[in-house]
Amino acid sequence: MSETGEEFDLLAIETLKSRYLQEGEKDWEDVCKRVAKAIALNRGEYTEFLDIILSKAFIPSSPTLMNAGTPSGQLSACFVIPVEDGIEKIFDSVKTAALIQKTGGGTGFNFSKIRPDGSVTVSGVGTASGPVALMRLFNEATEIVKHFGKRRGANMGILDISHNDIISFIRAKRTEGVLSNFNISVMLTDSFMSLADEGRMDEVWNTETGTKIGEIFSEIVEGIWRNGEPGVLFYDHINRDNFTPALGDISATNPCGEEPLLPFESCNLGSINLSILVEEGKVNRDSLREAVRKAVRFLDNEIDVNVYPVPEIEKATKKTRKIGLGVMGFHDMLLKLGLPYDSEEALRLAEKLMGQINRAAIRESEKLAAEKGPFPEYENSIWEFPVRNATLTAIAPTGTISILAGCSAGIEPVFSWVYRRARIAGKEFMLVHPLFETHFKQKLSKPDYNRLLEHVYAHGTLQDITDSKIVSEEEKGLFRSALDINWKTHIDIQAAFQRHCHAGISKTINMPVDAGKEDIGKALIYAWKQGLKGLTIYRTGSRQHVVLNLKKR
Ligand code: CDP
Repeated sequence: MSETGEEFDLLAIETLKSRYLQEGEKDWEDVCKRVAKAIALNRGEYTEFLDIILSKAFIPSSPTLMNAGTPSGQLSACFVIPVEDGIEKIFDSVKTAALIQKTGGGTGFNFSKIRPDGSVTVSGVGTASGPVALMRLFNEATEIVKHFGKRRGANMGILDISHNDIISFIRAKRTEGVLSNFNISVMLTDSFMSLADEGRMDEVWNTETGTKIGEIFSEIVEGIWRNGEPGVLFYDHINRDNFTPALGDISATNPCGEEPLLPFESCNLGSINLSILVEEGKVNRDSLREAVRKAVRFLDNEIDVNVYPVPEIEKATKKTRKIGLGVMGFHDMLLKLGLPYDSEEALRLAEKLMGQINRAAIRESEKLAAEKGPFPEYENSIWEFPVRNATLTAIAPTGTISILAGCSAGIEPVFSWVYRRARIAGKEFMLVHPLFETHFKQKLSKPDYNRLLEHVYAHGTLQDITDSKIVSEEEKGLFRSALDINWKTHIDIQAAFQRHCHAGISKTINMPVDAGKEDIGKALIYAWKQGLKGLTIYRTGSRQHVVLNLKKR
């Protein structure tokens, strides 16, 4: 019997039906066969690929599941599109983004080449409207394309910390609903962060505008405290892992931040389900290596069978052949092993696991290079031995594929053990985390179990239950969810994975509603010192629509 609860299975089936089944397909197996057939180059590969996807040991990201073996054939989730200063080029970028989003891919842009608001235009007639106004154009395009595509388009808008419009950029999403198709991120540098860390807040950062370090830093903190925007990216940490510096610096990422890419590069993502690797209280390392081996071949094949939205993307992608192999179900794995998310053991496991995955991925890419040749820009790269892919690992949010797999998303802690999911298949469900359900159903009488569910649903936590017969101290340690976990631990876990990951990691650092602005400032500095490539912080309830929902409840 599957470990996932009945409701979780229903949610997976409903998600599958509404988004992934093509005409004539009835279930997951049909989807897996179509996908494996489209990506495999021979019968042996077909069997291997079908095996890992069908068993949910590895799942490629949504565009592959949706488009492989269909007329669209666009398989990538991540793209970075350059934005040059000039009307014609800007509209070219909008068009490319529209073509990508129609197929379910996400686009990231660095707008720093756009001259600041109010400056004189190239023709000398009129004044430039600046990056923030331009982002509205991209946002509207996404809004319209949404009606043609299979999933809502997502954008990442980035501005460098030294751009003159940085303050208005940081404030660009302060009004709820504005730029709703964008995540925004400030590209921070080591020199800015060092000055902020040293508390040199009164020093002028931008001599043209006279803006001080402290003004910019506190605007970022204020924005995050208010509604989680902007996110931040750390330029020097990203470029420390630029394996092809001869091709230029990396100045942008895809929408959720896990893939820093060069202009016009795309990347195919896929995730290994860590949860099902636990057997009899231990991680099956052989199965892990096998899954990595097959997944790397799968993602590398995708680069050749992919149908690219525009020729520039095909060209840039095939030069470096980057792939993004990641993980999901990390918290479920910990629960099965009996390890609290915020424990030394969890940190050690994170580091060990990702190290193994990265090494196994590199080994497979090395083999692929021997068979088929290294990536074309290998000679210009910093790799010391031939590999087929310039980068191999990245950790995606796995927002939908983790639902299909029935496991916790990415490396996130479970957000809530019990929540209500409005109407699946016409019914309203109370969704209980399967491992929580199994554990407490076995232990408690039915009335006590129901009281526990009610409590966790109403309070969002079980940490405040005083009756140790219902929840012991040990269980409190194990069943800590995202908001019970300190922001520092969130960052530590992200950093542990990041140390063994070529690209980036998508993760939300949750803070409680009463977190202060000083906590946010500290978290930014701490994350930078831990070597993260980027950071998204979300203070509970700080977005209006969330507040409204709570009120209604
Ligand atoms: O789980 P799934 O494969 O559907 O996607 P994910 O792991 O949640 O997101 C992976 C990437 O897909 C994101 O970082 C975006 O680049 C892209 N994406 C998008 O373009 N539009 C969305 N609505 C969701 C994700």
